[in-house]
Amino acid sequence: MDRPRRLRRTPAMRRLVAETSLEPRHLVLPMFVADGIAEPREIGSMPGVHQHTLESLRKAAVAAVHAGVGGLMLFGVPLPEDKDAQGSQADDPDGILNRGLRALAEEVGDATVVMADTCLDEFTDHGHCGVLAADGTVDNDATLERYVDMALAQADSGAQLLGASGMMDGQVGALRAGLDRSGRLDTGILAYTAKYASAFYGPFREAVGSSLQGDRRTYQQDSANRRESLRELELDVAEGADIVMVKPAMSYLDIVRDVADRSPVPVAAYQISGEYAMITAAAQNGWIDRKPAILESLTGIRRAGADIVLTYWAAEAANWLR
Ligand code: PBG
Repeated sequence: MDRPRRLRRTPAMRRLVAETSLEPRHLVLPMFVADGIAEPREIGSMPGVHQHTLESLRKAAVAAVHAGVGGLMLFGVPLPEDKDAQGSQADDPDGILNRGLRALAEEVGDATVVMADTCLDEFTDHGHCGVLAADGTVDNDATLERYVDMALAQADSGAQLLGASGMMDGQVGALRAGLDRSGRLDTGILAYTAKYASAFYGPFREAVGSSLQGDRRTYQQDSANRRESLRELELDVAEGADIVMVKPAMSYLDIVRDVADRSPVPVAAYQISGEYAMITAAAQNGWIDRKPAILESLTGIRRAGADIVLTYWAAEAANWLR
């Protein structure tokens, strides 16, 4: 009889034959910096995750870098009264995201990779990822111009990788051209290549104080589809993406695998807010064992083919793995 159990008998044997590794450097921590708050504010639907002040952002970044995370991905939360139709704060050097990037660059420098969310949704009063045409639809090509302005401001504020998360057609090419034209050749692009319209973004909308009414289904992908992710991959690679990403992660592991099998560049996956919230809530109820559940979820995303995992547990998990 064939006996596969032989290789499962002891922890040492299991370690010897483990196919998938999970190391601190694989993990990227998404962080939120908010304007106009005096103290860090915990996000109700994401217990343990905070909107940071510039000061608490610095401290949390240092702790994450100390734990060995591979990078930090920063999102900005402007004051509601500073939002407008164009998302003007996004490319204002004094906008909260750009101030946060400068704080990170100054505090952790080259000890980690500082990344910025290059998308307008946090900064627009209508909450969409782009600017609107007269008929209220999201204007793809006008949005690309805003993304380029935003990219230049973020590059100048110290972002090393720009997270192109808006799902506009041509966004990677537009960013690459804009960066190159202005001599910012070293700033890279982390393309949100396959980003699906997802109910699991719910807690994130609270985290960034989103103003969105309606949904993003005219630009984010339909969860029923698989092939179009490969089309998006081809386009993003052709347009100059340095890293490609699939998002969300756990309900889209088949997409992570498809992309990983074909991508000539590193592949990331984003374990999003709703995934964090589900595991956190179940653990708080005593329904699942928190730490092994987190590690299993991260290992599963790695096993599906992600080189890099964005997760709100990045710092904590890195400390476990160190
Ligand atoms: C949009 C953006 C979103 C997330 C990251 N970037 C939200 C959305 O598309 O509605 C979600 C991240 C998460 O849920 O953790 N710029």
